[in-house]
Amino acid sequence: MVNYAIVLCYCLYLQINNPFIMNKFTTALTIVAASVLMAQCTAKKTATSAKSPEEAVAEVKRNYSEAQMEEGKTLFMGSCNKCHDLKEPPTRTVTQWERILPRMTKKAKLQADQAGKVRAYVLAHAKL
Ligand code: HEC
Repeated sequence: MVNYAIVLCYCLYLQINNPFIMNKFTTALTIVAASVLMAQCTAKKTATSAKSPEEAVAEVKRNYSEAQMEEGKTLFMGSCNKCHDLKEPPTRTVTQWERILPRMTKKAKLQADQAGKVRAYVLAHAKL
């Protein structure tokens, strides 16, 4: 991606500084570099776009064993009722939990692996 940006800058530099080199070749190269760059930017955007709730649930079910889910439940029961009543997983959607959990697992001072297990348990039982 950076390579294409450099090619594009170089082409633009050539075109601006020396109109005589502004022939079919540099023009074509400029267009190709610009379009590849744009295509890559759009591709990157879609690749990093958020997962659907269904995908997020399928992913935690794939990555966490039954035992780890149980551990998540135990942690959830033990640490998520300290400041307020326990908010059971089915009371909220996957999307809502994804927004709330990072803040709450931090408040509950859970380690990253513990937070992962809590998230797995909660998402597996949340509304879609
Ligand atoms: C240190 C105190 C504390 C702990 C521990 C804590 N919470 Fe909370 N929680 C709060 C406070 C304060 C609010 C209300 C203000 C807010 O939303 O930040 C809240 C709000 C919530 C809400 C409602 C937010 C909304 O927008 O609907 C949910 C759901 C929730 N907590 C879940 C959890 C879960 C799950 C855990 C365990 C991982 C947890 N909380 C641990 C303090 C805590």
